[in-house]
Amino acid sequence: MAAVPSPVSPVAEHRYHRHAGVVRGTHWINVVCFTLLLMSGLQIFNAHPALYVGERSDFDHPALSIQAHLSENGVVGETVILRHSFDTTGVLGVSSENGQVSRRAFPSWVTIPSYLDLATGRRWHFFFAWLLVLNALVYLVWGIASRHFGRDLLPSRAELCHIRREIVAHLRLHFPRGAAAKRYNVLQQLTYLLVVFVLFPLMILTGLTMSPGIDSAVPQLLTLFGGRQTARLIHFVVATSLSFFVIVHLVMVLVSGVWNNLRSMVTGWYDLGNPGMTDVA
Ligand code: HEM
Ligand code: HEM
Repeated sequence: MAAVPSPVSPVAEHRYHRHAGVVRGTHWINVVCFTLLLMSGLQIFNAHPALYVGERSDFDHPALSIQAHLSENGVVGETVILRHSFDTTGVLGVSSENGQVSRRAFPSWVTIPSYLDLATGRRWHFFFAWLLVLNALVYLVWGIASRHFGRDLLPSRAELCHIRREIVAHLRLHFPRGAAAKRYNVLQQLTYLLVVFVLFPLMILTGLTMSPGIDSAVPQLLTLFGGRQTARLIHFVVATSLSFFVIVHLVMVLVSGVWNNLRSMVTGWYDLGNPGMTDVA
């Protein structure tokens, strides 16, 4: 990738205020909530490590289950997804804990608390669930009032037309610099829209559907999601999708300039590179 210098390049123009205080604050509160909700959620899952469609939860026809059982090779971990069985010994079903074999769906290092304790896991989960809901409301109200969603997350028609070029650039790990780096690229915009307006609302709504107090007040939630067990299945699948998003998100933060990205999400200021440089590759 070559770069072409321009005649004017004042140092002050290198820096661009990319993220507003509310985006930064709610983003980091969300990082804490998401991590603790995932870990306490996996503790809750471990108490009954099978998911179903509909209303009933017997171990007969799970859509997904993680179990340990005895075989001629000893204790093995087995994960079954839609009747397809996978040997997941060492990670799911059976893992090692302090040098000992432990029979539990998710291993101790990904759950809160690390030992099996459903009641404590639920307390953590519900506390951070309400914090996440409050945080999401602040982000939503501010995002609408400041036109952040329409201005920064919604791609323009011209940006959508360039989606193929953007995918190729991403695969080649080419990231914009200069003025082009002031905006999220179209792949970021579409992904953030999916996360903010589809995945998080689904997490919150299915979580509320599983809460007896809420769904006795709003029974329509159970109809909407086709029963409590289906809501639980969707809650788990969306949690898994969000975890994949976070892994890709972190890889992109790393490869597209880790310090610059982190500084911008902490202080707001992003270094555009030499403003006189324009990518010509
Ligand atoms: C991104 C945020 C969240 C993640 C990653 C997450 C993850 C999980 C996971 C993995 C489970 C275990 C599934 C199961 O076995 O039942 C769970 C259960 C649950 N979650 Fe969440 N959750 C999140 C947000 C929420 C929110 C916002 C609420 C409520 C408003 C909520 C309410 C619940 C309830 C009620 C349960 C079942 C608890 C029980 O059966 O005792 N979750 N969550
Ligand atoms: C330690 C973990 C994380 C780091 C270091 C991180 C870093 C960042 C950075 C640097 C940006 C700005 C991207 C840019 O300017 O191009 C960003 C935006 C964003 N991140 Fe994260 N992130 C983390 C975790 C998460 C998690 C857990 C979620 C949600 C599950 C999330 C959701 C988002 C969203 C939705 C945006 C766009 C926000 C907006 O402009 O409204 N991030 N993140």
